[in-house]
Amino acid sequence: MSAYDRGVLRSKILGLGSYVPERVVTNEEIAYLDERHVRHETKRTETTDEWIRARTGIEQRRYVPNDESTTCSDLAKWASERALADAGCSASEVDCIILATLSPDIHFPGTAVFLQSRLGIDGEGGCPCFDIRQQCSGFLYALQMADNFVRGGQYKRVLVVGSELHSHSLDYSTRGRDVMVLFGDAAGAVVVGPTETDDPREGILYTKLGADGSGAMDLHLKVFDSKKMPHIQYNEKWGVPETMYPQMNGKKVFLNAVRAMNLSTRAALEATGLTWNDVDWFVPHQANLRINEAVVHYGEIPPEKVLNSIQLYGNTTAATIPLTLDHHRKEGRVKKGDLVVSSVFGAGFTWGAAVFRV
Ligand code: COA
Repeated sequence: MSAYDRGVLRSKILGLGSYVPERVVTNEEIAYLDERHVRHETKRTETTDEWIRARTGIEQRRYVPNDESTTCSDLAKWASERALADAGCSASEVDCIILATLSPDIHFPGTAVFLQSRLGIDGEGGCPCFDIRQQCSGFLYALQMADNFVRGGQYKRVLVVGSELHSHSLDYSTRGRDVMVLFGDAAGAVVVGPTETDDPREGILYTKLGADGSGAMDLHLKVFDSKKMPHIQYNEKWGVPETMYPQMNGKKVFLNAVRAMNLSTRAALEATGLTWNDVDWFVPHQANLRINEAVVHYGEIPPEKVLNSIQLYGNTTAATIPLTLDHHRKEGRVKKGDLVVSSVFGAGFTWGAAVFRV
């Protein structure tokens, strides 16, 4: 009798994959780039490698080619294909797509339908497609949905993707340097399906999410403002719409991230009855290495169990969790079946934690 028949379904991660563009942009180079990612002789932004490393831990990030050939759904496709191959399943077996991004291909429709087409599984009878707009928390928001869809017996192969193309929407000037230096382009994906076992320590063990809308404007990107007519307003001085670039209250974001990630990580261990001895890896969202060091310090998390990748990729928002896992799997550290505790924090404010076997 299958788990479906017994009605005791649990879900698990069947496959994992990620994609990063080839172009490496170092902290040294970023100061010389213009908004088309062309390097100039003189600095365009007053920033330094020392400042960026000391405040964030970031050393470099990846950018898509600057030929306007790449979309967020392309990055999502390349990561998805790797996750599907890892799961040993074909795109045609996917019966639901959940895509998390804050950098969609266009405003609407959502990016998941573009991903569906790029995977060649669109058309009559196409699977449902969801877009998740929970920024840096998007991947765990999507994972919770996938877990519950599979547990409920609704879908059997859910493709969960975090994909971001940040580099086209940043302010390459001193005015935008606090945000611009943080972000990179990448995608990560997992395939979620039912387990063959009802062992509560297998598969996805736990997900818990939260949000606090009072922090909504502390990290935001308007692009448009629907109360304005027309809803995009040009700024004469800037020569571009004034709503075009992300805005951030960095200190407030930092403090709230440390607090929320610490509390949600503690809650995850308490709810599952696990200790750090039982857990293989702690994978925090990759917003700032200093945030993660503080979470590790306050949470008394063994440093050797902590996986980071922000040094190489910057903050890739919804992609950071699968990207970090896949990066360390390629390095030979993470193995199939390892038990992972993950916690995230992002714009909204939103946050969450999950415990799962990879
Ligand atoms: N290069 C050089 N100087 C910079 C800079 C950069 N890239 N960005 C900001 N500065 C300057 C500021 O203009 C300020 O100058 P001033 O003292 O002359 O006014 C100075 O550095 C200090 O700025 P401040 O904003 O107080 O720095 P900070 O210690 O708060 O660090 C962040 C800034 C962005 C690194 C930090 O706030 C942060 O990481 N916050 C969380 C960001 C985040 O994680 N976002 C995503 C959440 S999911």
